[in-house]
Amino acid sequence: MQTVYYDLRDTKGQQKEIEDKISAAAKILRQGGLVALPTETVYGLGANALDENAVRRIFEAKGRPQDNPLIIHVSGQQWLPRYCADIPPLAYVLARKFWPGPLTMILKRRPCVPDQTTAGLDTVAVRCPNHPVTLAIIREAGIPIAAPSANLSGRPSCTTAQDVAEDMDGKIEGLVDGGPCAVGVESTILDLTCDPPRLLRPGGLPVESLEQLIGPITVDKAVTGALGAGEKPKAPGMKYRHYAPKAPVTVFTGAPEASAMEIARRVGPTSGVLCFDEYAPLFPRQEVHTLGPVADKLAQAQRVFDALRTFDASPVTEILAQCPDSRGLGLAVGNRLKKAAGFHVGESDTQRIVLGITGGTGAGKTSALAAIRDLGGVIIDCDAVYHRVLSESEEMQNEINAVFPGVFRLDGTLDRKKLGQEVFAKKDRLARLNAIVYRYMIPELEAQIAAVTEGVCAVDAINLLEGGLDRLCDRTIAVSAPSELRVRRIMARDNITEVYARLRVSAQKPDEFYRSRCDLELSNAAETPEAFQKEARLFFHRLVEDLREEKRHGGAQTGEDERKEAEEDV
Ligand code: TXA
Ligand code: MG
Repeated sequence: MQTVYYDLRDTKGQQKEIEDKISAAAKILRQGGLVALPTETVYGLGANALDENAVRRIFEAKGRPQDNPLIIHVSGQQWLPRYCADIPPLAYVLARKFWPGPLTMILKRRPCVPDQTTAGLDTVAVRCPNHPVTLAIIREAGIPIAAPSANLSGRPSCTTAQDVAEDMDGKIEGLVDGGPCAVGVESTILDLTCDPPRLLRPGGLPVESLEQLIGPITVDKAVTGALGAGEKPKAPGMKYRHYAPKAPVTVFTGAPEASAMEIARRVGPTSGVLCFDEYAPLFPRQEVHTLGPVADKLAQAQRVFDALRTFDASPVTEILAQCPDSRGLGLAVGNRLKKAAGFHVGESDTQRIVLGITGGTGAGKTSALAAIRDLGGVIIDCDAVYHRVLSESEEMQNEINAVFPGVFRLDGTLDRKKLGQEVFAKKDRLARLNAIVYRYMIPELEAQIAAVTEGVCAVDAINLLEGGLDRLCDRTIAVSAPSELRVRRIMARDNITEVYARLRVSAQKPDEFYRSRCDLELSNAAETPEAFQKEARLFFHRLVEDLREEKRHGGAQTGEDERKEAEEDV
């Protein structure tokens, strides 16, 4: 098949010629053909999302596993009710703010969207891409366009038309060149069928921007680590070890100086290095591709796939890569690098184990933390960090003042009582406040965690899950106990009446909240705190051993699983 190339890099020239190219591409799509399209994130391989046969051809051209659903691309939020059911108002709030743009929303689907497109799920992924040419093509075609990234399965995504031609020439009817992609990593995927919404894939829209608008969201486990054998991510595509270049990749996290030094210690003559611009001079004898400056996350997003692809044309036997911190676009860039590495993270980082400990009052969190301390662990008290950040960060105080005017006194100190009244019993106001505070807390916590270079570090936070702090942890643990026991313990511990103790317990989130959101549960029915502390020591000892073993092997997968997945890659 001859792939027709449509050059639409410049849309300011001959209007008639441009319109003709747009209608030609739209016509191919309407007739069931495949056209590669530019978007602001990565190039997509488009087909009519409502035409089963056209969609089937996408899977064939990419060699994509059939169980991996596609995103449908629309030209505006007015298309949502045509393809989605039970749309929550939040979807429109998000669309108004972030569309067109790198946000994909998972919503309940309507029956008109074929199984072939959604891989049989009862939900559908929808996004409105921010590229004038593709928007014009969708409008002209008048149909939603199903489009996965335009790479062959297993290869890094394509950010230029040349990349697409390399993978797809001769397999598709059309290729629209809209220039290099402005963002460079795929869209952020947010599941709106659960409450709170859940991040399934970090991408071109930073989590911080989402949380600033809608409050805290939860993060799917597949985002931060390799899943265990048999575990299923909510976005089926996240289980594949894709973005993989041919040579094996190892990723080094942590402070840039430290990760660069670690790579410098390990490189051999045939290693390839992927590092920030500043550290390239450290590797005069190696093949080096740079990710951009440490501080420029957008440059890193734009370059990450291209850099990974470029190594495929060279004889390097391994790739050692520096990983940005997880703020802003760094979460998406780091996720793509770690996925390319099959979550093989360099030794320097695997020495540390981070546990998130949460649970209601009286459940036994204090004894559990004491048990971790007994094992030599370091405890990070999030409450203390919260208060410190609140009193020290001027930038954050200004943000809070903008949302809650007047909560700071004239001398600059915070009027806690007034702020308390502002958020008390107002769920959305509290969420706004937390979103601001946690955004500032996370870098501070990251720094404290990074200071623990080996051993166990426990993050103690009652709001571990609402604040997104769970993203920093290898495992989250809910400490729980039957509420009758909790009531009796609080009465004894704080010397209060039964009525008051009951009130305190019922004012908190139920055990079920923690249980369903944490990776593990440590339940406490012991008679005394000492007895529980002993049980907890055993629990954490075993857990730490398992995690060390898992990290040595790059996730809980077996070698066999990984080989199989590498073959099935998307
Ligand atoms: O930026 C992007 O999103 C690009 C451009 C072309 O728009 N597209 C893209 O598509 O990255 P793809 O197919 O490479 O990735 C789509 C991801 C997969 O991980 C898939 O499993 C997930 O979206 N997905 C699709 N439908 C889903 C659904 N109903 N529920 C959960 N995850 C879904
Ligand atoms: Mg893809």
